[in-house]
Amino acid sequence: MDPSESQPVAAKLSRSAIFLVATINEGAEHAQAVRAFCADLSAFVRAVGFRNIESGLSCVLGIGSDAWDRLFGDPRPRELHVFREIRGVHDAVSTPGDLLFHIRANQMDQCFELAAQIIARLRSAVTVVDETHGFKYFDYRDLLGFVDGTENPTGQNLLDSALIGNEDAAFAGGSYVIVQKYLHDLPKWNAVPVEQQEGIIGRKKLSDIELEDSVKPSYAHNVLTVIEDDDGNELDIVRDNMPFGEIGKDEYGTYFIGYARSPERTERMLENMFIGNPPGNYDRLLDFSRAVTGTLFFVPTASFLDTVTPEAPAGAATAPEAAMPPAAEQTGSLGIGSLRSED
Ligand code: HEM
Repeated sequence: MDPSESQPVAAKLSRSAIFLVATINEGAEHAQAVRAFCADLSAFVRAVGFRNIESGLSCVLGIGSDAWDRLFGDPRPRELHVFREIRGVHDAVSTPGDLLFHIRANQMDQCFELAAQIIARLRSAVTVVDETHGFKYFDYRDLLGFVDGTENPTGQNLLDSALIGNEDAAFAGGSYVIVQKYLHDLPKWNAVPVEQQEGIIGRKKLSDIELEDSVKPSYAHNVLTVIEDDDGNELDIVRDNMPFGEIGKDEYGTYFIGYARSPERTERMLENMFIGNPPGNYDRLLDFSRAVTGTLFFVPTASFLDTVTPEAPAGAATAPEAAMPPAAEQTGSLGIGSLRSED
């Protein structure tokens, strides 16, 4: 698999980000407008990005499960589904979203301009259901005061964690992304002694050094989110959380975004956090942080997006509520045979 064909999932942590989640309006013409836009996205990023190339503008487009059926039909990415709500000690809600634009740059003006241009083009076709403007807070801290992102995989490990390989050869180089918008109860959090906060995260607050196992509680965030396969290999995801907020509304939050080659990785982490591992041993971060959105998207490769044409492929559903035809009747082809399938 050639990572240069992927969307910029592995872009560096940036100073600014805009997360736009939109639904596609009902009507075949709106699906057509979105399809027509797919192949133009890279040109939009080039046009806005070139105005200050140093700030590293990038955009990842994710497609929700229902939207995939509507836009592209068969074949489908193997593990794409609607985000499953989790009911545990705390609840992880599932909220609507057909398209995710994850826009990153070191300047907010570039993020803003790109988001505005995208929506100007898609205005009648989509409805923005969530728009979050994130900012870098000092040394990559979240608004709880902890450095966030330290243990992200890097280099080849990052690509291996985020990008689909041979397990779904037709979609190799793609990725799955889960987003959740969390709101923090800061007065409640700030009333907790720092040592106890450190136990909840599993790291020192000032220095960001990981707590030693002998003092780390079993419910620490970095215990519950470290998962392994049957052979004991750690299964990583790639996160690029961003703080956001609106002071006048008393809104202080973390926008969680996690890319993975399989959504199951992030789902297992979420189950550990919300239900607990073992059940009941849940993530105490959630006593202070409420998930108000939750959506799963598939991130096709950039080369896939470049080949999308406005016409509906034969396998695409014609209306959002239309059910997919039985497999035997699906004839849609996306012409993605050119995607390289080797790992
Ligand atoms: C309120 C939302 C969240 C906040 C404020 C938060 C904050 C943090 C912080 C401060 C760290 C330690 C530094 C680091 O390694 O990045 C961390 C680690 C981590 N978080 Fe979160 N997180 C949140 C939600 C989530 C969610 C929803 C997931 C996964 C579903 C997740 C997965 C992870 C993982 C995998 C690590 C690295 C653990 C390790 O390898 O040590 N986080 N998070």
